[in-house]
Amino acid sequence: MNVIEAVSSRISCRAFLPAPVPAATVRAILDAARRAPSGGNLQPWHVHVLTGEPLTELVAAIRRKLPAEPQGEGSEYDIYPPGLVEPYRSRRFQCGEDMYATINVGRENKLARLLQFARNYEFFGAPVGLFFSVDRRLGPPQWSDLGMYMQTVMLLARAHGLHTCAQESWSVWHRTVGEHLQLAPELMLFAGMALGYMDPSHPINTLRTQRATLDEFATLRGFD
Ligand SMILES: Cc1cc2nc3c(=O)[nH]c(=O)nc-3n(C[C@H](O)[C@H](O)[C@H](O)COP(=O)(O)O)c2cc1C
Repeated sequence: MNVIEAVSSRISCRAFLPAPVPAATVRAILDAARRAPSGGNLQPWHVHVLTGEPLTELVAAIRRKLPAEPQGEGSEYDIYPPGLVEPYRSRRFQCGEDMYATINVGRENKLARLLQFARNYEFFGAPVGLFFSVDRRLGPPQWSDLGMYMQTVMLLARAHGLHTCAQESWSVWHRTVGEHLQLAPELMLFAGMALGYMDPSHPINTLRTQRATLDEFATLRGFD
């Protein structure tokens, strides 16, 4: 698979097969992703990976807590800024509408939406869950570096026939996740990521999200 194929075939996969991912594959992906760039070569990424029993235990812990705390414990950072402005607000809305349409869940069906959202906390059935954190003493440029590492992981996963879904939704359970991972106090949980083999028969994986056209965000000058 070349890089263009990896980029174009990466989607957020929200239904996985239970087939396990070998430890050697996970290590190969995380190891190769070390070549991701970072300002000043700080390499500010930290990754914790769960599979098997530790993953089952965390999923069970969240399942126990969800009924009493459906919003979770609250994220340590704003997933979106309060008062999200256009055009970002509409894009966020559209992506939600498009996703729920794939499984025939309308806006009025709040329970079905909640249940689907809660699948985040099962890693959508993926056999591997990753957690990405960053030293809280670092700033936005280093968060951006962490994002580059994550995207590199997602593209390398494609080269191994695997799919992923990045998941900020885990950040609202940072306390419980932190306890399970024994996360060092200086580390702030940014996001989780599901990793595994896509369930190709699940309708939710038919979603191909929209994108703004190149001319809407790119300015090129000085070309012929
Ligand atoms: C940092 C980050 C966090 C995300 N968090 C979630 C999440 O918690 N749950 C989810 O279902 N999708 C999540 N997504 C997936 C986005 O919704 C998705 O990338 C976007 O709609 C574009 O679709 P695509 O990834 O299929 O191209 C996240 C993506 C990123 C980059």
